[in-house]
Amino acid sequence: AAGPLRVTPVAGRIGAVVTGVRLSGDLPDGVVVRIWDAVLRHKVLFFRDQHHLDPAGQVEFARRLGEPTAAHPALPPSDERRHGREHGCEHVLDVGDAGSRRADEWHTDASYTDRPPKAGVLRAVRVPPHGGDTVWANTAAAYDGLPVELREVADRLWALHTNRYDYVRPHPAGAGRRRAPVAPVTFETEHPVVRVHPETGERALLLGGFARSVVGLSDRADAKALIRLFQEHVTRLENTVRWHWAPGDVAVWDNRATQHRVVHDFGDRPRSLHRVALAGEVPRAVDG
Ligand code: SIN
Repeated sequence: AAGPLRVTPVAGRIGAVVTGVRLSGDLPDGVVVRIWDAVLRHKVLFFRDQHHLDPAGQVEFARRLGEPTAAHPALPPSDERRHGREHGCEHVLDVGDAGSRRADEWHTDASYTDRPPKAGVLRAVRVPPHGGDTVWANTAAAYDGLPVELREVADRLWALHTNRYDYVRPHPAGAGRRRAPVAPVTFETEHPVVRVHPETGERALLLGGFARSVVGLSDRADAKALIRLFQEHVTRLENTVRWHWAPGDVAVWDNRATQHRVVHDFGDRPRSLHRVALAGEVPRAVDG
C-alpha cells in the first residue's frame, strides 16, 4: 500500500533514505530482508513520515530486525520500570533532550558493555524548529581510508571503554532531574580498536567517546593522542551524513559500523527521540 520500496543514498559514503514502506511489526519477510541488507550496506537508513508509530509500534518494528534490549544497560531496575511505564514499553529510551551531555560527543551506543547493541532504531517524537540534527559516521570507511601502516597499528590495539560519563537521563518527567548523574552502574570493558563485522566481514574502527584509554599504554597523553588520531579519520566530513529531523522520522543504524552524535545547537528547546537498541555480539578482533 506504501508503493515500491526505494533506497536512495543521501551522501557519498553513508546514509540512505528509504521510501515506499510503512514501518510495522507486520512487514512481509522480503521487505525486512531488504531493509536489513540496506542497513548493512548504507550503515544508516532514514524513513520519513512514520507518524503512525507509537512506542509499542516502534518496538514491534525493531523486533523484526533483532532482539530489543532493556532500555539502558546502566539504569537501575526501579528507574527502568518507571521509564517503561511512562512510555508503555520497557525497551524505549527517551534520548536527545537539551539536558543530554554526552550525546553531543561522537560515540557508538553502549560501547562500554561487553556486547554493544548491533543496531539502533531512533524515532523523532518532538524536535526543535531548527537545529538538533544527528550526524552519523561510517567507521568501516574510516578504517579503509587509513594508510596501511596505521591500519596495521590499529589492528593490534585494544581500548578500554567506560560509561563513567554517560549522558542519558532516566526520568523524562522531572526537569529538575535532567542533569542528575545517570550512570549509577559503572561498566568497563576492553574491545579491539578494529572489529570485524560479523555479517559483512568489513573491518571498522571501534572507538568513540566511551573509549578512554589504550590497553598497554600507561601514558595517558600517548593514549589520548592515538585515540584522537583515529577519531579524526572517523569524523572526516566525507565519512559522515547529517540528518535534519522532522517528527515521524525514523533512523535505523548499524551500531557495529558507525558512530553518531547530536549537534547541540538547540538550547533548551524541547527535543525528544525514542530509541530502541537491538542486542549485539562480543566484538571480534582481526586475529579472531
Ligand atoms: C543517541 O546517542 O542515541 C541520541 C542521538 C540523538 O539524540 O540524536
